[in-house]
Amino acid sequence: VPVTPLRVLICDEMNPGNLVHDGFEIDYEGNMPREETLRRLPEYDALITRSRTKVDRELIDAAGPRLKVIGRGGVGVDNIDLDYASLRGLLVLNAPESNNVSAAELAIMHLMAAARGLTRSDSKTRQGVWDRKFLGLELKDRTLGIVGLGRIGSIVADRAQGLRLNVVAFDPYVPDSKFERLGVKRAATLDELLPQVDFLTVHTPLTDETTGMIGARELALMRPDSIVVNAARGGIIEEQALVDALHSGHLFGAGVDVFVDEPPTADHIFLSAPNLGITAHLGANTREAQERVGAEIVARVLAALQGDVSKGA
Ligand code: MLT
Repeated sequence: VPVTPLRVLICDEMNPGNLVHDGFEIDYEGNMPREETLRRLPEYDALITRSRTKVDRELIDAAGPRLKVIGRGGVGVDNIDLDYASLRGLLVLNAPESNNVSAAELAIMHLMAAARGLTRSDSKTRQGVWDRKFLGLELKDRTLGIVGLGRIGSIVADRAQGLRLNVVAFDPYVPDSKFERLGVKRAATLDELLPQVDFLTVHTPLTDETTGMIGARELALMRPDSIVVNAARGGIIEEQALVDALHSGHLFGAGVDVFVDEPPTADHIFLSAPNLGITAHLGANTREAQERVGAEIVARVLAALQGDVSKGA
């Protein structure tokens, strides 16, 4: 009896690895236009995305009864309407292990870039201005504050210690033993953390609790000439507050990999802010991470679909 293959659609850019698996038909189209995803989705048992595709009500409704699993090629699942997915009985999976090193390395890169005025010097030099007046900051012996000492924050702590930074973190969900193991000082509250750090980097998911977690009040609690990095999710640090603190000169610099709305518009307030380094949500974009992400999420989704089939049999 011919068995109908289970069909999986990958609609965002990743390295999906081997697409040939017995009993499955996997279609990969890295940058599928949304209208096409909506149109084709009813033919699939599983959908795999990254952050580009918003898995909202409209998309879930477009899927119809065949869809069982949504796989997120990455860590954050904030692009997925989890409540609605669960209401519709969909299983949502992510790939939590694959791109942590890449995300952490990007955060460190932003910290160093801001400390040495990379963006500023790069654009001046391209404009024909040979400006050697800029004085940067050394990282050594300064203090890095980390909000969120999870998988990514822990790697940032380790790399920062290699650069001879002192590390202090705020994370109410992590036990003391982990702080001790990592050699990281614990701050009991955000308000306790902020005044004692020279640099701040956030590594939390985007939730109701973390949205706008660092606003004007929090930035004002930081030392003058601090640097702030957001390689996690747009909106954890309020965009307007960050820009204001850069323009006022309270902050020395900042680095951001993420925006509240991606891609940002051409007149976004970040684009004219002083000493603000920008990357285009590239935290997970390394060859190594995307190879691992693709393999991890495809394996998890296929296993879930198989489980689903054997349960039904
Ligand atoms: C993640 O949450 O892992 C990243 O945002 C992945 C991505 O770039 O899509």
